[in-house]
Amino acid sequence: MVHDGLEGIAGEEIVQTLGGMVKRSGAGIVVFRLEDIDRSILQLRTTEDVFLFAWGTDELSYRAKDLDSIERWTARSAPWDVLLKIHHAVTPKPRGKTTYRLVAQMTGVHGYRRIDALQAVARGLAGKLPASWKYADENASVEVWLTIHGAMAICGLRLSDRTMRHRSYKHEHLPASIRPTVAAAIARMADLKPNQSVLDPMCGAGTLLAEAYLSTRGKRTTGGVDWPMHFLGGDLDKSHVRAAQVNLRQFHIEDLRVWDARDLPLEDASIDRIVCNPPFGKQLATPEAVVPLYRESVREMQRVLRPGGKAVLIVADAKALRSAVERVGWKEQRHAQIRMLGQRALIALFRKEPRSQA
Ligand SMILES: C[S@@+](CC[C@H](N)C(=O)[O-])C[C@H]1O[C@@H](n2cnc3c(N)ncnc32)[C@H](O)[C@@H]1O
Repeated sequence: MVHDGLEGIAGEEIVQTLGGMVKRSGAGIVVFRLEDIDRSILQLRTTEDVFLFAWGTDELSYRAKDLDSIERWTARSAPWDVLLKIHHAVTPKPRGKTTYRLVAQMTGVHGYRRIDALQAVARGLAGKLPASWKYADENASVEVWLTIHGAMAICGLRLSDRTMRHRSYKHEHLPASIRPTVAAAIARMADLKPNQSVLDPMCGAGTLLAEAYLSTRGKRTTGGVDWPMHFLGGDLDKSHVRAAQVNLRQFHIEDLRVWDARDLPLEDASIDRIVCNPPFGKQLATPEAVVPLYRESVREMQRVLRPGGKAVLIVADAKALRSAVERVGWKEQRHAQIRMLGQRALIALFRKEPRSQA
């Protein structure tokens, strides 16, 4: 499961890092096949959760008879014993009694309630889980999830826990912080290479820099050394820079300063990659302030970016961003329209002309 709109980028990560094969994707779900399933699946960074596929359909009728189908598919279409074996290999059982939990989420208007669908799964599972397992609403060791989205339903055994989406590096939180999985998608889109300088001019608590760093960790140059990189960032707000310092110290990212992104204390053409999550309109004193802020900060990004350098930005106001970018002549190479915290946002990758002047 991914944030709506990140299916393509998550699919790329699955193919490139796990060697998986994507079977289908859409509506916040990527279904993929792996030859061998082991703990490496938990290292995915753009996914919110990972499940073992039990069964799925695109053909719900929206009528109450779906409940019989859900029960039947749960009872007959999934090899629960095989799935449980893989589950235990990936997430070792905790000591003590095993507990389990059923979860259902449903969007769309159906002739039955979410709880009815959940009970249909429970009936289908009868006799499939060991009788000694106890039901637990909190911290269950085994979770079976049913997700219904319009005519689509998918049922699976959860492999990940909350640490997949909430990273352990985040000691300091800001209300406007970006979700780590979205930051990881931005880091992937930035297409980092060894020896690059990577800037976040409005770094807040530092999530984008953390994910950019983590996307390069463990990578080696052809000479066998870790990728030498320079990560740097800053923010107008001193307390945000302090939050970033706390979060990024463990990654040895120390070049963090209080500055105004509209007037950066950086050399012309000195930066290879920019990742940035400027404030959304509702976070500013007046929503109209977005237009001049984007215009002036994009102009400054253009100045510090090397010719051929790339910038990935996430904004709510796509029009304000595209108008700012038009003025500096960047080429849009790719974008993803996502939903984050109930709000639509655009992630866009731009490239500065290779022979451009600052
Ligand atoms: C949406 S938040 C960034 C959140 C960040 N990506 C994180 O994960 O915590 C936007 C940030 O831009 C900063 N900001 C606003 N105007 C700025 C400016 N002119 N120069 C630098 N930073 C600015 C705000 O203080 C805020 O921390």
